[in-house]
Amino acid sequence: MPKITTLFDIDEIGEGAAKGIQLGQRNLFAVNHQGQIYLYENRCPHKGIPLEWMPDTFLDAEKQYIQCSTHGALFTIDQGLCIAGPCNGASLKPITYDVVEGKICIAEDSD
Ligand code: FES
Repeated sequence: MPKITTLFDIDEIGEGAAKGIQLGQRNLFAVNHQGQIYLYENRCPHKGIPLEWMPDTFLDAEKQYIQCSTHGALFTIDQGLCIAGPCNGASLKPITYDVVEGKICIAEDSD
């Protein structure tokens, strides 16, 4: 049986907000976009480094795209696809999750 880890209450992230999550060696982040939570590995496909420059800051000014703070790559929130910047066409790695009693949970080995 995989170990199930609770990440946060679904209510913790308001509409248009994002949150970084450190889980042992894993660095993840979640975005609430139009009522849907998207969970990704916090790793830019350009240089393999975290996306944010300040805690929980993952979106562009209009909150329409995920933005890498290092070279400005833009990723779609719903698919994690880079549509502008040095890694155009590459994707963030989505993380599969479940909602259990209002909490976002992942299996320890989920990817
Ligand atoms: S490291 Fe993210 S765009 Fe270069």
